[in-house]
Amino acid sequence: MTKIFAHRGSAGTHPENTMIAFYEAERVGADGIELDVQLSKDGQIVVIHDETIDRTTDGTGWVKDFTYRELQQFNAVYKFADQYDVCRIPLLEEVLAWICSTTLLLNIELKNSLIAYETLEQKVIDMIRHYGLEDRIILSSFNHNSMALCRSLAPNIETALLYMESLYDPWKYVRVMRADGLHPYHRTVTEPFVRQARHYQIAIRPFTINQEPLMEKMFQYGVDAIFTDYPRNAKNIRENKKT
Ligand code: G3P
Ligand code: MG
Repeated sequence: MTKIFAHRGSAGTHPENTMIAFYEAERVGADGIELDVQLSKDGQIVVIHDETIDRTTDGTGWVKDFTYRELQQFNAVYKFADQYDVCRIPLLEEVLAWICSTTLLLNIELKNSLIAYETLEQKVIDMIRHYGLEDRIILSSFNHNSMALCRSLAPNIETALLYMESLYDPWKYVRVMRADGLHPYHRTVTEPFVRQARHYQIAIRPFTINQEPLMEKMFQYGVDAIFTDYPRNAKNIRENKKT
């Protein structure tokens, strides 16, 4: 059965990449959560999508230029200010501590394409090990060098390659990269592609699947998981498909 990963938490209905959005994902019965991580000035792993805080908080500037403590002064309620007063940028540690009390899977996307946060991979892996979550986590990134590094640092943690355009000879590429999965932009995903992936035992998890007809299509293709901003809708559609 195709798993449902709540993208940035339940980003369609709650402030993205905040604890409120993650709690909602669990409440509606998502199988997993996807979140994005970067490093603060003092080397803390913070959960935020953009390299700057401008879009999703009331502050302005680069994540890398603020200490974690400084980042805490900004409100990450984003476009949901009519529903919530204040939301803070979480630490990855906060999420992992909470995930331990759930059965959720977790996709940690390393946001290190624009900024090469030097120690990000090792820090994330150390944190996962500290909480003993190796078998519930998938690491992914658009930075494939970073995924190769993760694979060598932690052979027992799943890795996946994010990409926008079609790959040339994806099955060979994924083998060379020693990755476990591909996370493609949904437009590149076809039924034969998913069939081939199954043959090569490569997990396919397309992003970001928000429209209901697209959800139906991906469930029908039998992809391993989808990333969606609307996990509740996806669950309804997946359930109806079964009956
Ligand atoms: O991990 C899937 C998806 O989150 C990748 O794109 O930009 O939403 O992080 P983005
Ligand atoms: Mg992401």
